[in-house]
Amino acid sequence: MEIKSAEFVSSYVSYKDCPKNNTPEYAFVGRSNVGKSSLINMLLERKKLAKTSQSPGKTQLINQFIVNENWILTDLPGYGYAKVGKSMRKDFNKLINEYAQYRENLMCMFVLLDSRHAPQKNDLGFMKWLGENQIPFVMVFTKSDKLSSSAVKKNLMEYKKEMLKEWERLPDIFVTSSENRKGRAELLDFIDKINASSNF
Ligand code: GTP
Ligand code: MG
Repeated sequence: MEIKSAEFVSSYVSYKDCPKNNTPEYAFVGRSNVGKSSLINMLLERKKLAKTSQSPGKTQLINQFIVNENWILTDLPGYGYAKVGKSMRKDFNKLINEYAQYRENLMCMFVLLDSRHAPQKNDLGFMKWLGENQIPFVMVFTKSDKLSSSAVKKNLMEYKKEMLKEWERLPDIFVTSSENRKGRAELLDFIDKINASSNF
């Protein structure tokens, strides 16, 4: 898919504030600092469209971007970040869970996972919750430029092994890097296919 246009729409504090859209929508979710906003910029080829930061907790609202005037990409706050404080963490979790459950035109959640880390409890728990609520999702490994391809493979195997304890079938898996654009074509193809088959 060619990105012809990409524009910031608005920020919202809750799914309830998001206008109803007859447009397929995709959301990036994952732990704070995993690289959600960076991956959005890489996919859309706009360096500063989504705000990024070296310190976790940068994205605090639901941020929507309209792409090629016919689909929406949504950047969400990170879950499970200790330093934002317990009550704010709870608010973020509520915001994410409600958005995932009630956003009617949401086609798929992209769950971002840092390629460098072993399976983390809150990521596994979040994916289990998505499954229980029948919310479609894929796994997207980020920052793959930071380690060798054999190390990426090894961590991926660990994740698959852990997931298969709970799941009969694994979701689609993408390996990406916002630094060297790895995974860009694959993710855009995936979105393109869903857009083409959606009823909107
Ligand atoms: P929150 O909004 O705080 O939840 O974080 P986020 O998931 O949006 O992460 P963000 O995109 O802001 O990136 C966090 C840090 O990781 C930044 O310093 C990025 O430059 C860095 N980063 C993100 N993706 C990559 C990547 O693919 N490779 C490398 N080397 N660094 C990355
Ligand atoms: Mg962010």
